[in-house]
Amino acid sequence: MKHFPAVLAIILLMAVPACRNGFLADNVRFADSQLRILLDKCDEGDTVRVPASFIDGEVTFVPIDDWVSGFFAGSLWYMYELTGDGFWKEHAKAHTERIDSIKYLKWHHDVGFMIYDSFGNGYRLTGDPAYREVLLEAARSLSTRFRPAAGILQSWDADSGWRKERGWRCPVIIDNMMNLEILFNATKETGDSSFYKIAVSHADKTLQNHFREDASSYHVVDYDPDTGEIRGKYTFQGCDDSSAWARGQSWGLYGFTMAYSYTKEAKYLDQAERIAEFLLNHPSLPADGVPYWDYDAPGIPDTYRDASAAAIMASALYQLSELDGNKEYRKEADRIMTTLASPSFRSEPGEGGGFLLQHSVGHLPAGGYVDVPLTYSDYYFLEALVRKQSRRL
Ligand code: GLY
Repeated sequence: MKHFPAVLAIILLMAVPACRNGFLADNVRFADSQLRILLDKCDEGDTVRVPASFIDGEVTFVPIDDWVSGFFAGSLWYMYELTGDGFWKEHAKAHTERIDSIKYLKWHHDVGFMIYDSFGNGYRLTGDPAYREVLLEAARSLSTRFRPAAGILQSWDADSGWRKERGWRCPVIIDNMMNLEILFNATKETGDSSFYKIAVSHADKTLQNHFREDASSYHVVDYDPDTGEIRGKYTFQGCDDSSAWARGQSWGLYGFTMAYSYTKEAKYLDQAERIAEFLLNHPSLPADGVPYWDYDAPGIPDTYRDASAAAIMASALYQLSELDGNKEYRKEADRIMTTLASPSFRSEPGEGGGFLLQHSVGHLPAGGYVDVPLTYSDYYFLEALVRKQSRRL
């Protein structure tokens, strides 16, 4: 019966279409036709490929150990949740099971993201016990990255390549808050508190060390893994070490909102609200609610916006509003969603390779994925639609 609410939501969505507002119905219809186009490009014969973006007229694909590999499967699960159509379930299963072996991935922190977005949503909607096992294995893999002296999960290995060249030893990025959900979930499923303790330790250290006075966050904090001392604070994807890289701020907002939902620790809720206030009142946030790629980017307003940061922020604000009862956050989320669903950001029907949103920024300083569709923008846009329609407020 644990999965009853999700099943009930699907049945209700199917049975009472008249209850859905025009915005939701329009965007679900749009997503339904777009994602069929993208699916056609991903699935060729027996090959199930993982889409990342649409660049120069071509869908680009990534290997399954890329950090974005769980998002498309997750989007397909959200389509199943939003429509109740078995077509989406069938494809969601295929794309989810395609990345099964990622549960053993231990060389970067994103195993949490990858498996939770795909298998986590699949388990929530189907209760498949095999998916539960994958979630637990992935939580065990992620736990191997816990560094007890520093009390954090190490994001990236730093013993070779450019991380070593930068002199880092134990880099932790704000994005890593997102990986904690798979650990909270593992304790909920098994009663084994070791996962929960790691997640809480990581969240506490992030709260202590990643934020500035104004609630903006550094992107990277490098720790000494032997002593736990902080070796430095930097950026990787933002415009400089002291700036507020937009997606990083959204990860922090989402991460602390999610951490509060599992722990009910007031300090996490307080932090999520402080981040929300910082972002929503930021002088460089445009009136339509979609931020520039960095809140401190040079050249504002003549620079790129980031639809991914906006979609993550909208989804987080819906959840925050549910948790703290502040309807203003829902209104702000609605404002962002209205902008994302407008012709300024939404793909023209049939265009964009089947991606839903245009104008995201992956890694501007490195020149990667600039002003293009991104699979995670679409994932959080769909998640925000699910949260918008299921709100209690
Ligand atoms: N977690 C990687 C990124 O947000 O680009």
